[in-house]
Amino acid sequence: MCGIVAYIGRREAKPILLEGLKRLEYRGYDSAGLAVLNGKLEVARAVGRVRVLEELLAHEGGFDGSMGIAHTRWATHGEVSERNAHPHRDDAKHGHGIALIHNGIIENYNVLRRYLLEKGHVFTSDTDTEVLAHLIGELYRGNLERAVQAALREVTGAYAIAVMCEEEPDVLVVARKGSPLMVGVGNGEYIVASDSSAIVAHTTQAFTLEDYTVARLTRDSFRTATIDNVELTPEIRELEFDLGQIELGNYPHYMLKEIYEQPEALRRSMQGRVDPRAGQVVLGGIAQFARDLARARRVCFVGQGTALHAAMVAEYLFEDLARVSTEVDFASEFRYRNPIVEDGTVIIAISQSGETADTLAALQEAKQRGALALGLVNVVGSTISRETDAGVYLRVGPEIGVASTKAFLGQVMVSTLLALYVGRRRILSAERVGDLLQGLQRIPDCVEQVLENSDHIKDAASRYIDRENWLFLGRGYNYPVALEGALKLKEISYIHAEGMPAAEMKHGPIALIDNGMPVVFVATRNSQYEKVLSNIEEVRSRGGHIIAVATEGDDDIRRHCEEVFFVPDVPEPLQPMVTVVPLQLLAYHAAVMRGKDVDKPRNLAKSVTVE
Ligand code: M6R
Repeated sequence: MCGIVAYIGRREAKPILLEGLKRLEYRGYDSAGLAVLNGKLEVARAVGRVRVLEELLAHEGGFDGSMGIAHTRWATHGEVSERNAHPHRDDAKHGHGIALIHNGIIENYNVLRRYLLEKGHVFTSDTDTEVLAHLIGELYRGNLERAVQAALREVTGAYAIAVMCEEEPDVLVVARKGSPLMVGVGNGEYIVASDSSAIVAHTTQAFTLEDYTVARLTRDSFRTATIDNVELTPEIRELEFDLGQIELGNYPHYMLKEIYEQPEALRRSMQGRVDPRAGQVVLGGIAQFARDLARARRVCFVGQGTALHAAMVAEYLFEDLARVSTEVDFASEFRYRNPIVEDGTVIIAISQSGETADTLAALQEAKQRGALALGLVNVVGSTISRETDAGVYLRVGPEIGVASTKAFLGQVMVSTLLALYVGRRRILSAERVGDLLQGLQRIPDCVEQVLENSDHIKDAASRYIDRENWLFLGRGYNYPVALEGALKLKEISYIHAEGMPAAEMKHGPIALIDNGMPVVFVATRNSQYEKVLSNIEEVRSRGGHIIAVATEGDDDIRRHCEEVFFVPDVPEPLQPMVTVVPLQLLAYHAAVMRGKDVDKPRNLAKSVTVE
């Protein structure tokens, strides 16, 4: 989604802003812009990548000054064009030289626009953001902070904004509701950004703005207050990751780097949380709710995209290992289906970013109806992690690639730990938990083993990359893995792929199968193996080409398939963390061979902060 960077300090703002924008490129965007205030406002905007904006600035010259704002836009209102790119300004004729960048959606922008049109404002874009810039200008009476507060009191929707005004050349005002925004606190300078990746190069001290909060920043001080001007004292904390974690190193793409980081990420995720000998899982973050969890009558998992697929694995884990009635839903659907939240309901939001608008809204809805709200989140201090009653962090480190990989493994790992934690308090013996924990400790090595087959997977991918339709099929624990395999392939290589339960194929999708169509089966040895083999035969007899993920040592399966990716044998409930890895590599290699920009897939944003 849109990325925000703003700077006020003593250094030249332009290079800091451009570098910040590059760090936020992974969030996904279609145009970029920058403004510097040095007596007069200078504004530049360009469609396309940040480097296009950089070239424009180099060509134009100027843009000197030690305060500025910059933005990457992911279009919501208005087409992708230079005039719709941010920053936006207030009214050219009656304005005060205000420039603003915005992440989010102003839902009542039409009403506000009509009001401003009646007042004689002339708009130059189709965006909701420009309306906000004009509104601040309209309400400006010599104090930018007050004007921003007054304008935001009129607004419904979501926003993270940064605003400058020619009449107050040493003041930067930022505010937030529903869209993430952090303020990095340096020595005589502040760097504001949508996430910490644009801040850590300059300072590791930062605070997160709360909803309905405005910060007024000068070079030497800051003040935060609500939009009703009640003064607040934010908590400044140490950012947890350093620059090295978000650099590419020797990898060609973040996605590949993160796929290879998975064994280490899983080890970190388990560290200090498992004790196989005692048959015990230790989850300090939720300890105070252990009894509520053990007595839960119903658990609802919510998430979107890859996080939803992890939630689907969690549903199998919870029903199988903890014997709790469990359901899983798209967060976006849960919220609007008037959900029944009885006593003893626990809602568990799964999210890498902790900022996904739909997931946050579902969590809030369930919490408001009385559910205990837990989160399985990666980004420390993110909105979802702060909105929950308690939670478990994934600890997989920053994920930059738009295609989620190591976060999925972290989500499944933490879901497994949680299922065992609850299961032990309900029905599982210490021996059974101990056995599964031993299995769990082997998973990082198993993933490493799969990664060694990357070249073989690449080779197989090369034989099918010109096919535009693929199916991914699995059963039981591996059904969500099939969904995840299909999502990975479509989002980065733009190949049409469908994932579904293997048995569902016969109820319609089998009509799609023609000669040579690639059909990926997750066909590991488990309780459903024989049934999956039958499904494989049904596809083969119609000309489909089978790519199977199978258990090491199952040489027999070669007779049923064109390609096999072997994975180590692990207990059935733990299989998703191993079986998904060849599918991640398959998607990666296919996308690279098709010449796609793996880390910046078209139309996609890393974190979807609008509903
Ligand atoms: O940050 P979240 O985990 O809440 O994000 C949810 C989805 O937007 C995300 O998993 C998305 O589907 C990924 N791009 C898939 O690779």
